[in-house]
Amino acid sequence: MTEEKLMEVARKYRENAYAPYSKFKVGAAVLAGSGRVYGGCNIENSSYSLGNCAERTAIFKAVSEGENELEALAVVADTDGPCAPCGACRQVIAEFGIPRIIMGNMKGEVRIATLEELLPFAFSAEELT
Ligand code: THU
Repeated sequence: MTEEKLMEVARKYRENAYAPYSKFKVGAAVLAGSGRVYGGCNIENSSYSLGNCAERTAIFKAVSEGENELEALAVVADTDGPCAPCGACRQVIAEFGIPRIIMGNMKGEVRIATLEELLPFAFSAEELT
């Protein structure tokens, strides 16, 4: 699956964003080792801190379906430059070792980063031992 196709899925899922408070709609899509793609959007709550980001929605969907290898993640929002994942999502992206992160915006601008570029010096399970 090409980066463009994954971004297309992320854009489609952005339409499902539930963001009545921030009005900031985000879409994401994860490509799994099985070849399947899982889309996600941000889902907010009147109790603000309970909201979930689009990236984590997509990742949790994939993992909950039994996917144990995630190959790429696309994220898109109506931002000036390509939309970068928040810090919490970077930590979750690192947990599942997603090596390729494709960031985009509604103008069609795209930036691709590796996991190491996105979250250098990441905290990991090795720190726990
Ligand atoms: N948001 C995401 O979905 N992904 C990010 O990486 C950044 C922020 C959502 C959370 C909230 O619903 C809205 O964007 C505004 O912060």
